[in-house]
Amino acid sequence: MSKDMLDFNIEQQEAEIDVSRKIKVGIIGTGWIAEAHIMQYLEMPDVEIVAGADIVPGKAEAFLKKFGVDSARSYQSHIDMLDNETELDAVSICTYNKTHAECAIYALEKGVHVLLEKPMCVTTEEAIAIMKAEKKSGKILSIGFQPRLDPNMIKVKEIVQSGILGDIYYIQTGGGRRRGIPTPFGTSFIHKDTGVIGAMGDIGCYSLDMVLNAIGYPKPLTVTGYTSNFFGTNPEYFKVEGKPEKYAEDFGVEDFAAAFVRLEGDIVLDFRIAWAMHLDTTGDTIIMGKKGSLRIPSTECWNGSIGGPMIIYSEVAGSMVETKIPVIEDTSKGNFYKKVRAFLNAVKNGEEAPVPTTQILYNQIIIDSIFKSAAKKEEVKIEIPEI
Ligand SMILES: NC(=O)c1ccc[n+]([C@@H]2O[C@H](COP(=O)([O-])OP(=O)(O)OC[C@H]3O[C@@H](n4cnc5c(N)ncnc54)[C@H](O)[C@@H]3O)[C@@H](O)[C@H]2O)c1
Repeated sequence: MSKDMLDFNIEQQEAEIDVSRKIKVGIIGTGWIAEAHIMQYLEMPDVEIVAGADIVPGKAEAFLKKFGVDSARSYQSHIDMLDNETELDAVSICTYNKTHAECAIYALEKGVHVLLEKPMCVTTEEAIAIMKAEKKSGKILSIGFQPRLDPNMIKVKEIVQSGILGDIYYIQTGGGRRRGIPTPFGTSFIHKDTGVIGAMGDIGCYSLDMVLNAIGYPKPLTVTGYTSNFFGTNPEYFKVEGKPEKYAEDFGVEDFAAAFVRLEGDIVLDFRIAWAMHLDTTGDTIIMGKKGSLRIPSTECWNGSIGGPMIIYSEVAGSMVETKIPVIEDTSKGNFYKKVRAFLNAVKNGEEAPVPTTQILYNQIIIDSIFKSAAKKEEVKIEIPEI
């Protein structure tokens, strides 16, 4: 399978499933998103869930029981699981952002393939350490960007890659919510010592991936970034939401970020993302090229949906024309299913990761550089270390 996923075909993927070869899977971190992972695995005839781990005592056991796999073994950390489960083929890492790197590196060192939830991790240094472990292990590590498998997101990439827009020189992307600081099951997203990064790690990384994947992930060169947290640190915000006002004291991350990023190829990326703001949207995504531009109506970022038909603006024989690209209704299995299936097929067939670290490294570096630039209040130059 090509790593850009343009030729991803779920029917074909399913037809190729070899049920005689079961993949033994463990789940590390059994919180909210782990439920989405296990539900997909349980639909796969070639998967056996053998273990779950969570640092909260009893949580992994209760999770496995809830999904009817109480025969699987439960552990109180990724280390316990990976030291004891010597026959594991793969793990899903569903921990909060802070522990992505340590869990991924340990799994790779144990010779286990990894499906790692997004964001890849929280710093550039961690991303490099993960990639070094991946290289040394020879195992694959795929990052959990499920919108990549959405037909509308695939269409965005097809349009750009078709050349109809010509050379791309300017991109505006991002998005966000008027009120949407995520605290449905507690505060792991908003604590500095668990989430570490806020809106950027939760939804900003998706908007970055949508456009960077479409244009082929050029290297980022410089970043001027800004972050703030005016909403999350205000007790009134949580009071109105019917949540404990104490969440404002716990709030240790950004709820808004903006950046101006220079990319290789003389492309500039204008970016903003909000968990909360006094505004309905930060705008549509636009990709401007020398022959045409694409407007992608404001998206939810994480689920691959688009806010309406896309429009290509171009010129034909001296006339300005607009081409409407209808929204594609996805009638196949959902994006979460497809992301897990794509990962498993890559594991079984010894192929490249569907969402490879070589691309997502740049996503992570941009995020990290936004924080560095915001702290220094000046532009930062990006140096990409050797892996
Ligand atoms: N792809 C998506 O659409 C999507 C959606 C939501 C969340 N996420 C990502 O998934 C991750 C988890 O989010 P969540 O909402 O499930 O968080 P959560 O807080 O509900 O769950 C995380 C769990 O990991 C456990 N944990 C942390 N470190 C561990 C370790 N070393 N070993 C074992 N368990 C450990 C915690 O105790 C907790 O139970 C985040 O990085 C988030 O960005 C992705």
